Amino acid sequence: MAQHDTPVKLLAIAGSARAGSLNRQLAEVAAHKARALGAAVTLVDLRALDLPLYDEDWAQQHGKPEGARRLRALFAEHDGLLLASPEYNALPTPLLINAFDWLSVVPAESGEGGLPGGTAVTAGKPVGLMAASPGALGGIRALPIVRTYLSTNFAMVVVPEQLGLPLADQHLGEPHALKDSKLDGMLDRVVAAVVRQARWRLQAA
Ligand SMILES: Cc1cc2nc3c(=O)[nH]c(=O)nc-3n(C[C@H](O)[C@H](O)[C@H](O)COP(=O)(O)O)c2cc1C
Repeated sequence: MAQHDTPVKLLAIAGSARAGSLNRQLAEVAAHKARALGAAVTLVDLRALDLPLYDEDWAQQHGKPEGARRLRALFAEHDGLLLASPEYNALPTPLLINAFDWLSVVPAESGEGGLPGGTAVTAGKPVGLMAASPGALGGIRALPIVRTYLSTNFAMVVVPEQLGLPLADQHLGEPHALKDSKLDGMLDRVVAAVVRQARWRLQAA
């Protein structure tokens, strides 16, 4: 049985890396809330992984990119994920899918310090889904796709609570909370569900 007071470690990822990204701001607010619940949170900038567009020929020539191994190592070191996914034409962004597609093909490495393969480091870990959009629907059309993608192919436990944040430019701007208290309460529930699930998983290990 693991120590009950072991702090859970979460990743926070936004599917957009642009300056001023609403989804990164949302991920940062979620990270703050998770820290307030005792979790340690690492924010991941997907652009900094410097991943090429997925290309099997590229991989044959160069091997799996270093950024994909870094993402694998990050998942291996953490217990769950807070994910803010923008919606592009009702789908998740290429940046997000490209990063996870690369992760999915990182092979297991044997020997001392060797890590499991890309989908083994995600398996069983909780993820809370969020989306921020300046539009009226808050990016909710892409979230079922992200849910299927992560639960089916990455065996992640996607918590039922989720948040689509409409008119996000009006609701973001404070570092610790959303300006609308009802939406802020929904975000609280997403974050709490992930922290709780990650804790259960650690305690059962
Ligand atoms: C190619 C493209 C397609 C988009 N499609 C949608 C969409 O289907 N639904 C939506 O709510 N917003 C859509 N948007 C607007 C994004 O929600 C908006 O650009 C948002 O700010 C992106 O997230 P970010 O601020 O985290 O970068 C689209 C934007 C782009 C560039």
